[in-house]
Amino acid sequence: MPVLSTRLSAAAAAAFGTSYDPELRSSTKPEFGHYQSNLALRIGNALGRSPRDVAARLVALLQVEDLCQTPEIAGPGFINLTLLPETLAKAVNEPETFSSNGQRVVVDYSQPNVAKQMHVGHLRSTVIGDALCNVLRFAGYDVVRQNHVGDWGTQYGMMIEQLLEEGISAESLDLEGLQNLYERSRKHFDADGTFADKARLRVVALQSGDPETRAMWRHMVDVSLDDFDKVYALLGSNLERTDVVGESAYNDDLPRVVAELEQQGLLTESAGAMCAFLPGFLGRDGDPLPVIVRKSDGGFGYSATDLAAVRHRVSTLHADRIVYVVDHRQALHFDMIFTLARTAGWLPGSVPAEHVSFGTVLGPNGKPFKTREGGTVKLVDLLESAVARADGLLAGREGVDRAATARAVGIGAVKYADLSSDRGNDYVFDLDRMVAMTGNTGPYLQYAHARLTRLLAKAGTSAGEVTTLEDPAEQRLALLLTGFAATVEQVAQTLQPHRLCTYLYDVASALSTFYEQCPVLSSEGATRASRIALCTATRKVLQDGLGLVGIGAPDAM
Ligand code: ARG
Repeated sequence: MPVLSTRLSAAAAAAFGTSYDPELRSSTKPEFGHYQSNLALRIGNALGRSPRDVAARLVALLQVEDLCQTPEIAGPGFINLTLLPETLAKAVNEPETFSSNGQRVVVDYSQPNVAKQMHVGHLRSTVIGDALCNVLRFAGYDVVRQNHVGDWGTQYGMMIEQLLEEGISAESLDLEGLQNLYERSRKHFDADGTFADKARLRVVALQSGDPETRAMWRHMVDVSLDDFDKVYALLGSNLERTDVVGESAYNDDLPRVVAELEQQGLLTESAGAMCAFLPGFLGRDGDPLPVIVRKSDGGFGYSATDLAAVRHRVSTLHADRIVYVVDHRQALHFDMIFTLARTAGWLPGSVPAEHVSFGTVLGPNGKPFKTREGGTVKLVDLLESAVARADGLLAGREGVDRAATARAVGIGAVKYADLSSDRGNDYVFDLDRMVAMTGNTGPYLQYAHARLTRLLAKAGTSAGEVTTLEDPAEQRLALLLTGFAATVEQVAQTLQPHRLCTYLYDVASALSTFYEQCPVLSSEGATRASRIALCTATRKVLQDGLGLVGIGAPDAM
């Protein structure tokens, strides 16, 4: 609670002239009250004084009698604070809100590749990226989404040349057709030198804007983007066509990027390629690792494009913060890109660039998720089977919009499983566990919300305010509800969506204890009204929280 931090800081300033953040934390045990601070220990250490004496002095000067019970000093000098029931009630009735922080954050996420199916890695990037965009916007940022689609490179030269040779029209191919075409052209390229030369010339034609070549490429891109849009629609992603700023968008900037690096003396020629060697980046063999900005064949690669993208995001999009949601295997790539961009002066020290790294989705065998033939698991199939599983759970339920609810529950289950553990971890794609109605799952939270909705409908009212909080179970629930804004703020800072999931699970668990201990509909008078208001506030937190992680909250299930 911000006001308590302010009061503690004031006491510390008055007593010791220090200005530490009091680091007020939720207490780990009910007997330690609602909040705990180790401020006295830190001041004691810094000043060489007994922390308990420091705590006594702080408590003597601390003015919180309007908000808390008498502060207590525990153990080596912790200060424990317990809110008065009326403080808690007021905090539930008047939740903290965010206003704009005047900062723009650019979020690079999803980033599938043209002419290839989206895979489970792209699922993770999309789900995590959407959740982070929602949270950042809620926390007051101006959010700019950038879908850095892989739509550029030498493979399009091969594919177009193959199309021309086979005499088939680009228009006749769907995404699967494109994927097969890619495989045929790859084989052809490796086996036939004349074809390879033609493919290389075709890349030059593509990069320099030859209209016929561009039209064929454009068609391949559009077919792929249409397919991605279907996945986004099924997922309920916020990504739009206008968020697509693919690798190709930076084509015209690449020569300038390389020229500027060269002018700054940051490039070295190595085996015909132009490379930047950054201090401290060594390979396993101890040799310096290059950032290759121009390949020996004169073409620009993935790194050059990412450098151009950073430059664009800072100078044109005016980013105050840049976030990349990409799997952990690209950690070194981003470390090097950020370092080089800072060295070149394109990424000022005031603009943080963060790689939001995530682990691998595993199949039932504990290995990276692939089809039995070793191919990419089609995302749409996976999501549709989750929806079908959810549909089965809803059989026989009355008053439920079955199709819409199955979709919300099935997709919600997949998303929640992805978001609820630390994103750095790998996880096994296990539909049974994902759709379970008990434990820390999406359906469990959705059910808690639906049950509240039913209760409030029976109550006939959802208006009113929390006035009395007598039972420890209702106090605990109320206290958790007041932590919503702080949790969102924490996720906006750490970019760790699982913290919000854990919080929502704690709320749902506290709600279930509250149901056991505190009758709502059968209670009377002021208690009944107050409990109904507490249920209303809980419902709102669950609904808002699920919304932030991109999960629907059906009214019945
Ligand atoms: N398209 C790439 C892939 O599928 C990810 C792109 C990540 N974003 C970026 N700015 N490099 O692996």
